[in-house]
Amino acid sequence: MAVYFDNNATTRLDARVLEAMLPYLSGPYGNASSLHRFGRAARDAIERAREQVAALVNGRPKDLIWTSGGTESNNLALKGVCEAARPTRLLYGITEHPAVLETAEALRARGWQVETVATDGEGRVDWARFERQLAGGPLRLVSLMRANNETGVIQDVARAATLVHAAGAWLHVDAVQAAGKIAVDFAALDADLMSLSSHKIYGPKGIGALLRKAEVELLPLHHGGWQEQGLRGGTENVAAIVGFGAAAELAQQELEARGAHLRALRDRLEAGLRALPGTRIFGDGVERLPNTLQFALRGYEGEALLMQLDRKGFAVSSGSACASGRGEPSHVLLGMGIEREIAAGAIRVSFGKDNTMAEVEQFLALLATFAAAPAPAALRS
Ligand SMILES: Cc1ncc(COP(=O)(O)O)c(C=O)c1O
Repeated sequence: MAVYFDNNATTRLDARVLEAMLPYLSGPYGNASSLHRFGRAARDAIERAREQVAALVNGRPKDLIWTSGGTESNNLALKGVCEAARPTRLLYGITEHPAVLETAEALRARGWQVETVATDGEGRVDWARFERQLAGGPLRLVSLMRANNETGVIQDVARAATLVHAAGAWLHVDAVQAAGKIAVDFAALDADLMSLSSHKIYGPKGIGALLRKAEVELLPLHHGGWQEQGLRGGTENVAAIVGFGAAAELAQQELEARGAHLRALRDRLEAGLRALPGTRIFGDGVERLPNTLQFALRGYEGEALLMQLDRKGFAVSSGSACASGRGEPSHVLLGMGIEREIAAGAIRVSFGKDNTMAEVEQFLALLATFAAAPAPAALRS
């Protein structure tokens, strides 16, 4: 038995997405920049996918730039905006994905003034401190995520947008985990830039997008091609783009049904965990993604418990996929002010559309045996 509960790390390619992609792997092989019929077939497929992905977040197709995924989208947003201006101030949330925080730190090394936005104990922006920071001098860009990849905590980015715009800056929203799981509306949130990734929504890996309002000045990360308005040169990966388009359309059509199913699984797990002694749930009591639950079991160290669970057939995460294996407690939980020893016990469960209630019941039964038994010395934090 192998049960996959790590869907925030990546998801399984949907069979319908694969079907949409296959013709573009073996059939029309033209370069989308070519003017002949081979090229036009590829171009048409790319433009249809652009409409599908933009529609998922109520964006305009002409504002969408293809990238290789969420990491590149975040890099393009931060470096692209900052390098289009002389060194100035950039703010980013303390619980952001490494693709934002390490990019911001790289900009700091190149002379930009970089500050973190603090959160409360549940991972939401500390608004009073944020407003003081916004008033603290000229500002170019703020980067905040719509939903956190570890805790699932949802950020009020529309409120942030109003404040950021009043301060004369632009707002970048990392919506990689939110899009396709909850309704995300680029226009209503009033974001200026938004990062998306295909492989979190049952599409192929290695393809993503950055939405950018036309007025946001942006420089490309690399040179040598005029594709994507000159902002992302290189011959397009047509099959991957078509796959992202198909995955986005399915996510939009099935958003409510998937959401209800995921919420039922998550709520059952949460109720079961609360019944176990000494369980701590992170982001407790605040709005979270319907598929995500991060928790700690008293006495257990996260990565050791992860390996125990893996041996019993359950694939979970101890934080973000990238942080796993480093042995450091999650920067997200530390940023929320959680004590190191408790943060070191974190386990993240992220359900996908194909998980079942029976799997959750089996998982809970297994966790109950761990919670009842004193943790072996090797598992203790
Ligand atoms: C919030 C968030 N942003 C960005 C990324 C990076 O996306 P990608 O894997 O497509 O590069 C991830 C991936 O885990 C993520 O969770």
